[in-house]
Amino acid sequence: MRILILGASGFVGTALGNALSVRGHEVLAADVDMAGSFHFDLAVPETADKLLQTLKPDTIVLLAGASSVGASWKNPSGIFELNTTGAIGVFESFLKHTPDSRLIFAGSSEEYGRACSIEKPFNEDDICTPSNPYALSKHSAAQVMKMLAGKNSSDFVHLRLANHFGPGQRKGFVIADFASQIAEKIKRQDNSPITAGNLEAMRDFLFIDDVIDAYIKVIEAKRLSNFTYNVGAGKPIAIKTLLELMLEISGCGSKIVIDPQKFRQADTPVLSLDSTRIKNELKWQVTVPLKTALERTLDYWSSRC
Ligand code: GDD
Repeated sequence: MRILILGASGFVGTALGNALSVRGHEVLAADVDMAGSFHFDLAVPETADKLLQTLKPDTIVLLAGASSVGASWKNPSGIFELNTTGAIGVFESFLKHTPDSRLIFAGSSEEYGRACSIEKPFNEDDICTPSNPYALSKHSAAQVMKMLAGKNSSDFVHLRLANHFGPGQRKGFVIADFASQIAEKIKRQDNSPITAGNLEAMRDFLFIDDVIDAYIKVIEAKRLSNFTYNVGAGKPIAIKTLLELMLEISGCGSKIVIDPQKFRQADTPVLSLDSTRIKNELKWQVTVPLKTALERTLDYWSSRC
């Protein structure tokens, strides 16, 4: 299959490109500044238009966009311009040039917006009430995509993904932030504390290998019966428990200091996804246990210190 990845140089894009190549697919990697790849800028609609017109891929995966919830509070209009208007530009180019292909859009569990109960994770039919600029930008783009899908009978797919982590993720996301501090502390062998933000929030974490497996299953599926699919573990863990587990795995006896600067204007207390739909339809499931996944991530950060 000929697969165009828009946002190929990011954490997910890099891992997805490698995994698809190993499976024998032709990968067309596109990003803003990636050596040897096609030029794509979500902020410049003509770049997607040109790529779709000339490359005519069978499948397009739209990963590009701003991904930090915390940072989105600092620039709400900018995130809308990029994540919403930019994505809609890609949908329009798709309808113009490759209407018979499949377009997969990376949405977010943040779209649900409010807390779910620990026992009852969100399913795809639950109402979304996005509560930060990032969540609203993703949800708005997905809503427009759904409208266009209905009108044009297009093969549009919207994934609502839970928090990801693993080797290759940059700092700015909670597990990378903690793992990098732990690795540096172990290297320095000092008594400095680990700093953290809101430890009370609960999130559903997915290791990168399981995220990639979900994308591959969606890409390779002959037909899909639904527009939206949740992809998450369905087992929310408190950030405090997560940090304690990481300290235990690494053998790093460290004090934790709360840094008020790391708190957000609003932080959804519990986010967790019921992924029954993708499990039943595409036989996707979580395969990497959390402890193993954290060990691999901590090893990655140790090797970079
Ligand atoms: N980043 C970060 N750093 N978050 C911290 C820290 C810290 O030092 N300490 C506590 N937290 C808390 C945040 O307040 C939040 O409640 C939780 O840890 C997770 O934060 P992030 O890793 O920044 O992720 P996120 O939940 O805001 O968003 C991620 O997941 C979404 C899907 O649920 C991003 O990857 C989004 O792009 C993605 O859509």
